[in-house]
Parts: sequence; C-alpha cells; structure tokens
Amino acid sequence: PTITFIDPDGQSHVMEAEEGQSVMKVAVQNGVPGIEADCGGACACATCHVYVDPAWAAAAGTPGAEEQEMLTYTVDPAETSRLSCQIKVSAALDGLVIRIPASQH
Ligand code: FES
Repeated sequence: PTITFIDPDGQSHVMEAEEGQSVMKVAVQNGVPGIEADCGGACACATCHVYVDPAWAAAAGTPGAEEQEMLTYTVDPAETSRLSCQIKVSAALDGLVIRIPASQH
C-alpha cells in the first residue's frame, strides 16, 4: 500500500508501505520529518502525532482509550488526530493521506 505524508508546508512524501507495519514505522524508516516516535511505538510518547486526512478517518479507525488519553498531551490535537504508531497499514489503507502537525515540524 502507498501512504502519502504531507508536511505543514505542503510538501508531500509518497511512501511504499508493507501491510502490518505501523504508519509510524513507515515514516521513521523513510525519514519523514516530524515523526520522532520517542517511545518506539508503545503509545507512550505522543511524538508520532499525525492528522489523518478526513477522507481516510473512518478507514483508519478511531483511537483506543489509551491512545485517546495520550492525544490530550499533544500541542494541537484535532478531530482526526491519531498516534501514527497505532495505525496499522492494510490493503484497505492503500492511498492513505497523513498530515504532519506544524508543531512537530
Ligand atoms: Fe510513541 Fe507513537 S511512537 S506514542
């Protein structure tokens, strides 16, 4: 599946992902700026915060309780905020569009 990451300045990075990987891993592996992922994907740092494009919000799913709580620690949460380590790449997410928060850039 292909995932597009869009910087706050509008630049996009189109990445080839593997099913089962987290969106965070895809970003880190490909050096997408703005995804620090300090905790390595344990849902404990919130430095992998992203905005899911509204068109993809339903497909990407809703945050679980733990993730929801971590999201309250982000500087600029929005309606489609997710922790990218908690989104698993699947065929259904082929074409997924993810925006990087300006605060992390
Ligand atoms: Fe730490 Fe996602 S990598 S919460």
